Amino acid sequence: MATNDYVPHAAGYVDNTGPKIVTSRFHHRDSYTLERYEATNGYAALRAVLQMQPTAVHETIKEAVLLGRGGAGFPAGVKWGFMPPVWPRYLVVNGDESEPGTYKDRLLMERDPHQLIEGCIITCFALGLNTCFLYVRGEMAEAQERIAEALNDAYASGYVGKNICGTDVSIDVVLTWGAGAYIVGEETALIESLEGNRGMPRLKPPFFPAAKGLYMKPTIVNNVETLANIPWIILNGPNAYKEFGSEKSPGTRMVAVSGHVNRPGVYEIEQGVVTYRDLFYGDNFCQGMRDGNELKMFIPGGGSSPWFFEEQLDVPIEGSLISAAGSMAGSGAIVVMDETTDAVKACLRVVRFFARESCGKCTPCREGTTWEEKILQRIYNGHGRPSDIDLLLDIGSQISPGEYPVAAWAEKGLTAVPFPPKQTTICPLGPSSVAPITSAIRRFRHEFEAKMTARPADEPELRPAGETWVAVEIADGAGNTSDVEAAEVHS
Ligand SMILES: Cc1cc2nc3c(=O)[nH]c(=O)nc-3n(C[C@H](O)[C@H](O)[C@H](O)COP(=O)(O)O)c2cc1C
Ligand code: SF4
Repeated sequence: MATNDYVPHAAGYVDNTGPKIVTSRFHHRDSYTLERYEATNGYAALRAVLQMQPTAVHETIKEAVLLGRGGAGFPAGVKWGFMPPVWPRYLVVNGDESEPGTYKDRLLMERDPHQLIEGCIITCFALGLNTCFLYVRGEMAEAQERIAEALNDAYASGYVGKNICGTDVSIDVVLTWGAGAYIVGEETALIESLEGNRGMPRLKPPFFPAAKGLYMKPTIVNNVETLANIPWIILNGPNAYKEFGSEKSPGTRMVAVSGHVNRPGVYEIEQGVVTYRDLFYGDNFCQGMRDGNELKMFIPGGGSSPWFFEEQLDVPIEGSLISAAGSMAGSGAIVVMDETTDAVKACLRVVRFFARESCGKCTPCREGTTWEEKILQRIYNGHGRPSDIDLLLDIGSQISPGEYPVAAWAEKGLTAVPFPPKQTTICPLGPSSVAPITSAIRRFRHEFEAKMTARPADEPELRPAGETWVAVEIADGAGNTSDVEAAEVHS
């Protein structure tokens, strides 16, 4: 096996210049092996932790202000403190990562699985628990293989299992493969899936997982990248961690950039220091727009996030600043679209994803996202009618009442409505479908109106294979009806 061959551009990852906390081993071809991990200070943090009091480990993570990387950006150390003194209690690792454009957790699992395993064992030790469930998305075959192999090696070497490193600490890690549902990334749906149920979110409140989660026992759900930071923080201390990033958001974070840039990929960047402009145009990052085109819009933090435009290019990539500007840092998935992008088509693509991934548990999301997709489809096909634009906004307001966070307001000289939005749904998936619609209509209403007249002859209809479309009538409950085209799916 190769040992230290340098891989400057491993698939999906760009090895740029800058601080490396979680991707420090990515440039080794054998970065996923136990040999490489041990040779690069791997499991040294675990050995150190086993000499500490669990509460001291917890305090270290709290002091570092390690923000969750799964979407909400909540401090891990604070969340850990919400567990009541009840046992058994569990750690659940969220490796479901299914949002369009997000692929950083997959790389962490494929390229440095021992770092994640070490982070899990340290967390279990800090929280006084002995079972960790590691849930990996169904389609991530390579990540599953690498994690399984690494876990076998870690068990065999005494880093996991009974009497870890010869101490009386015993912790097991249970691997679970998902079946490939986006909604199972939502923590309570993930817990349902782990329990063997259909992956549908639970209503929060009354119970939050930290108090009543898996099997109704205290459960911490943390993202893969969140936990992957922990060995470095233990080895280098919270102050060294805080030397990177900004005061509110210390450290680095991984962002996955896709779309119309010259060098798309996953970058580890300093939070709150690098701006979107640096990221898209900097030599150290994406090196400008494809074919020298102009930027039209970008999705700043996963498909659920309201779109950003030219005016937001100088916003530093940091949760609170992005929220104040009317969107969210979310999962760190950034999709860049240049001037050649059809705003209606881009909107339809994202909304279709949410409509297909809705778990169906609550009506505004199940019905609303389906309506949104159908109306957008007919507008795109050139069969829309002028009232459809307001109809789309109206359906959005049934899912997410009040002003929807929208950076596009800046164009009108108005302050952006900050994130998060309100919701009539059980989880944020429903409101996620409103993000592209509100963003696109506020900014590019003229493109929607232009589609009302006719579909350009050279544009194909956006219809999935295997579906036949028929005309149906929908009613809004107030006596108004509207014709849409609905799919009849034949298996
Ligand atoms: C629809 C939906 C999908 C989500 N998908 C993921 C995911 O794939 N991975 C993830 O870590 N968090 C995801 N989250 C956030 C989780 O519910 C949870 O907040 C997170 O795993 C907590 O980890 P952290 O505190 O370390 O960020 C999702 C949330 C929602 C509402
Ligand atoms: S908002 Fe959508 S995905 Fe979330 S629980 Fe309701 S139906 Fe399911």
